[in-house]
Amino acid sequence: MCGIVGYTGRLEAAPLLLDGLRRLEYRGYDSAGVAVLDAGRIEMVKASGSVANLAEKTANGAALTGKCGIAHTRWATHGAPTDTNAHPHLSEHGLFAVVHNGIIENFAALKGELEAEGIVFRSETDTEVVAHLLEKYYDGDLKSAVMRTAARLEGSYVLGVLCAKEPGRLFCVKEAGPLILGVGVGENYFASDVTALVSRTKNVIYMSDGELAELTPEKITVYDRTGRETAKEVSHVVWDVEAAEKGGYEHFMMKEIMEQPRAVKNTVEPRIRGGEIVFEDFGLTAEEIRRFSRVVITACGSAYHAGVVAKYVIESLCRVSVETALASELRYSDPIIDGRTLLIVVSQSGETADTIAAMRECMARGARSLAIVNVVGSTIARLADNVIYTHAGPEIAVATTKGYTTQLAALYLFAVWYADKLGAIDAARRAELIAALYALPSMVQRAIDLNVHVKYLAERWHGHKSLFFIGRNIDYAAAMEGSLKLKEISYIHSEAYAAGELKHGTIALIDEKRLVVALCCQEQLYDKMVSNIQEVKARGAKVLGVALEGNRRIFAEADDVLYVPRGERLFAALPEIVPLQLFAYYIARENGCSIDKPRNLAKSVTVE
Ligand code: M6R
Repeated sequence: MCGIVGYTGRLEAAPLLLDGLRRLEYRGYDSAGVAVLDAGRIEMVKASGSVANLAEKTANGAALTGKCGIAHTRWATHGAPTDTNAHPHLSEHGLFAVVHNGIIENFAALKGELEAEGIVFRSETDTEVVAHLLEKYYDGDLKSAVMRTAARLEGSYVLGVLCAKEPGRLFCVKEAGPLILGVGVGENYFASDVTALVSRTKNVIYMSDGELAELTPEKITVYDRTGRETAKEVSHVVWDVEAAEKGGYEHFMMKEIMEQPRAVKNTVEPRIRGGEIVFEDFGLTAEEIRRFSRVVITACGSAYHAGVVAKYVIESLCRVSVETALASELRYSDPIIDGRTLLIVVSQSGETADTIAAMRECMARGARSLAIVNVVGSTIARLADNVIYTHAGPEIAVATTKGYTTQLAALYLFAVWYADKLGAIDAARRAELIAALYALPSMVQRAIDLNVHVKYLAERWHGHKSLFFIGRNIDYAAAMEGSLKLKEISYIHSEAYAAGELKHGTIALIDEKRLVVALCCQEQLYDKMVSNIQEVKARGAKVLGVALEGNRRIFAEADDVLYVPRGERLFAALPEIVPLQLFAYYIARENGCSIDKPRNLAKSVTVE
């Protein structure tokens, strides 16, 4: 969603801040702004639309002089995406500039109070109250003004604060939402995402909720909620800046699809040693895991779809009951959770607001939590009792690809480990499953190698206005993800349906204008899928079959076929999604859509 960056050092701030904003653009935004401090005056420029507009208005930052500043990309929540509503926001007398990620829930009450004191608001945003409160509470002590202001705020907020009377000094505050400090030499940074920092420094500090930080060029000081100085560990980011750049591809999404064999390998292989699955730094012992009576998996979007796949896999291998719940529903469902529940939380970003809220709710009821997360040091990773990191590297395209497949890989690893600890599989089956895990990267590569054929099919079918993805069992779970990929980047209506459920109402929508993508990789259910294909064909629909290599029978049923490499049945969703990612990509490209930054979407949904 919104992105923030702050810099204090010896260089001109504005060009560096603009570079940081460009690296945050992938998160979704509709306007941007920058403020720098020069000779006791805050200079500010804002622009609706892309960071390129802001760059043009400021001659790439050269029009602004000052060595300390803050900047923001906005995803509108309160007020339209106009220049006025863009951040930063200034206080009444221009003493403070503020950037903000999140939502101030009590802003209406605060605004009423400030207006009664004679303050005139310029924007429609919730953020502007923060600037005015800072000026109201500032009496020469910046830290105290920031703390008093933060104490008045309800909701989620990450704030960056610049004060005209405090040269070289920045403050930032975190209360739900990511905030990372970049530790430099003679310069320091803050940002809402590591990608904004890695071109300048790889030494970072992950902030926790309730903390505030004071940055000068020479020093970073972090304080807890009570204002007491708190010691923080400096972590080292392991990936290079190139990982967050396109590297010759037209889109990040294609680059990330192509990176999947490596990402899956990095997730799986370090965890297999001597024919056993080993989770380092993993707090769950075999004894503890045997005490769980059920598993609840919670997540949003594609991560939820990975959870639906995992339900089939864990139940099949472990014979333990698994519920997969949408985090946005679970959080308000008064869930039946206790100390015998293992809660698996799946999230690429580790910052999804609904997922965090559901996790907190379940942990408060006694659940032990295991997070499957990509971003190191993210909120979910830090809240969880145990973490399995997916090693996907930075994912920039809004539509997740390698984030999702590495989630599947991590969940498969966990399922096999869990089954083994429960004694639910014998040594021969364990060896077979471990071999299947090892084979996953090469299967993904073989699926990618069919790229040219997928492109041809996308060119053939891109004109359809409505698609259905159908499947049974794990194929149904994969259909959900295939359908989401298509709709989010191509804006074509698409629905995923359990193939057997279609005839209970939705088949009324099937006619000669529909394309049905029929996933047939669970061969134990192949004949049932053939019946469903015949049902839709009888009503005029065209069918694109997705089947395992070597299946010749499918040609008699489908108009076209996408093949998927054959391997362990339970792990089929992983290679199976690759042609569907490519299919969505090429259809969106044919239709001229904004692939990496689809309309209305943000990379990480940090508000409810
Ligand atoms: O960062 P998370 O995995 O928690 O994000 C969850 C969803 O917002 C995310 O998977 C979303 O559905 C993707 N845009 C799908 O491509």
